[in-house]
Amino acid sequence: MKKTFYITTPIYYPSGKFHIGSAYTTCLCDTLTRYKKEMGFDTHFLTGTDEHGLKIQEAAKALGKTPLEHVDYIAGLAKELWKGLAIENDDFIRTTEQRHEVVVENIFDRLLKQDDIYLGEYSGNYCMYCEAYFTQTQLIDGHLCPDCGRETNIVKEETYFLRLSKYANRLLEFIDKYPEFITPETRKNEVVQFVKSGLQDLSVSRTAFDWGIKVKSDPKHVIYVWIDALSNYITALGYDSKDDSLYQKYWVNGDEVVHVVGKDILRFHAVYWPIMLMALNIPIKFRLFAHGWYMMKDGKMSKSKGNVIYPEQLTEKYGLDPFRYYIVKELPFGNDGMFTPEDYVTRTNTDLVNDLGNLVSRSISMVNKYFNGSVSNKMTEHPYKEFALDLETISKKVFVDYKFFMDEFKVSNALFEVSRLIARTNKIIDETSPWDLAKDPSLRDTLEMVMYHLLESIRLATILYIPVLIETPNKIFEELNVEKKYQTFESFDFGKKSNYVVTNQPIHLFPRLDYDTEVEAIKNMMNPTQKHKEVIEKPEIGIDVFEQVNILVGKVISAKAHPNAKKLLVFEINTGDRVRQIVSGIAEFYKPEEVLGKKLLVIANLKPVKLRGELSEGMILCGETEDHKLYIIEADKNLEPGDNVR
Ligand code: MSP
Repeated sequence: MKKTFYITTPIYYPSGKFHIGSAYTTCLCDTLTRYKKEMGFDTHFLTGTDEHGLKIQEAAKALGKTPLEHVDYIAGLAKELWKGLAIENDDFIRTTEQRHEVVVENIFDRLLKQDDIYLGEYSGNYCMYCEAYFTQTQLIDGHLCPDCGRETNIVKEETYFLRLSKYANRLLEFIDKYPEFITPETRKNEVVQFVKSGLQDLSVSRTAFDWGIKVKSDPKHVIYVWIDALSNYITALGYDSKDDSLYQKYWVNGDEVVHVVGKDILRFHAVYWPIMLMALNIPIKFRLFAHGWYMMKDGKMSKSKGNVIYPEQLTEKYGLDPFRYYIVKELPFGNDGMFTPEDYVTRTNTDLVNDLGNLVSRSISMVNKYFNGSVSNKMTEHPYKEFALDLETISKKVFVDYKFFMDEFKVSNALFEVSRLIARTNKIIDETSPWDLAKDPSLRDTLEMVMYHLLESIRLATILYIPVLIETPNKIFEELNVEKKYQTFESFDFGKKSNYVVTNQPIHLFPRLDYDTEVEAIKNMMNPTQKHKEVIEKPEIGIDVFEQVNILVGKVISAKAHPNAKKLLVFEINTGDRVRQIVSGIAEFYKPEEVLGKKLLVIANLKPVKLRGELSEGMILCGETEDHKLYIIEADKNLEPGDNVR
């Protein structure tokens, strides 16, 4: 029987569209799932949306929607996004689904009945954004949320509590007994510190809003969103339902269960979740992998900073595989990393265009040129045999290391191993100079040995890319005519496929990106509004100051050039009360006859002045473009001379 592997992403808050941060976790889980499948596991991959809570209720309200309308919409977008990124999740759980809500109600009820949950009162600083209370000592500067830095409010409410304190020692024992429970190690230490500093019972119900699952026996309380959300990992498997076969298979009797989470939500998963399971008498089967964050040059991604980038913006322009590759490769294991347009373009050009793409097309071209597209496994006694053997050895080592890293969730490191194999393969071309070998007919077998080794090595590297790249492996296998049975991890061995007949038309796998153009293009994606020009800033004024300016609609009755100044026009303008003479510096932009009859806006109470000898009793309002051209602001046709502008 196959071993099982159950992997989950956090369920995302559907407050808005998902950015590359959410895509990172999901692509990582998808990669690990595909890897495990290749390794012969029976896999189950769960993702979904966390749809209850005040934050969602507020987000919906701001959009003039009901919470359900809002979450329906975002959950729809999420499913579309994952499909677009070729995510092969087996299930998508939404916490508003009945299969989830009913079970959460029961879980709460059970914990209440067995006195692991009890009714009490809570008064404390509450962060609405994080949906959590904090003690005075946890707050930053005595009032800000320690997790997100936002303002907290003092909230006092009757609330149910989960007896965390009762389970603290058991949890510490568990963590001690299973050192691999939390990865990376540093994160584990943080959790242990947190638990050792003393666990207070956790407030697990809210009365201030109603968008959530109600406590069955006391419906004015809704269940705390984290109790609701964490349960998804088992409700989705059918725990406590008529058909719990998936729960039995992947959880109770399962071999490997992994929750992949961001470092910010580790505590919920490493403390509250195992304690819930202990209280429910459910085995703690999972391991936790806490990853870091994708940051931007100016810190966290946020709409207000205008530095958010969405996955579809990148995949639409540069394709799916470069995105999946970049997103799982660029973030170092467990640490934060930075998304930059420069790295995106460079990573694509170096790893995919130069190293992989060129290797494939050069190799195919040479096999066509020297062997009419067909080569088989050869080994000669020529000194170049060393290079071929070295490639074989390296490929074996790469495979071992690759598996080691993948099993440790170190996808980025695993991909570096593949790059190593590709680099070694490219190097053999330089070492052997096939174009020189081709000149000597007595070295034909040696040339064939080199060509075969190139192709076989490309096949092996491509196999290792299967968990990450979606379209490219098929293209390469097709070009190299690799049969299905040689496209598997099982067939990863030098020499397994003994001959090749390649296509005679190598295609470009990845188009080269022009560095400057594409860096600029990605920058624009990140902040389409940044194109706003800098506007003139003036000190703030009250409406009373503005009201002192008398702006009237006027109609041009006559216009002529100023007798003594090239840049000025002299107008007669009817402003309702009378006809006044106004001198304006727009001669460069308008001929007198072009302005005749125009209705425009006049500042009527400007102190009269003489401009080069002509009296000016007001001013015409114009707009000025970036290149300093002036355009008259015309009044609507329904306005008449003397109408007030305010
Ligand atoms: N709803 C909770 C999770 C409940 S799981 C039972 C939640 N949702 S979230 O949408 O705010 O975040 C989901 C995940 O996205 C978290 O693991 C978080 O760390 C991750 N990320 C959010 N921004 C991120 C980056 N910029 N980079 C990488 N991951 C980031 O928390």
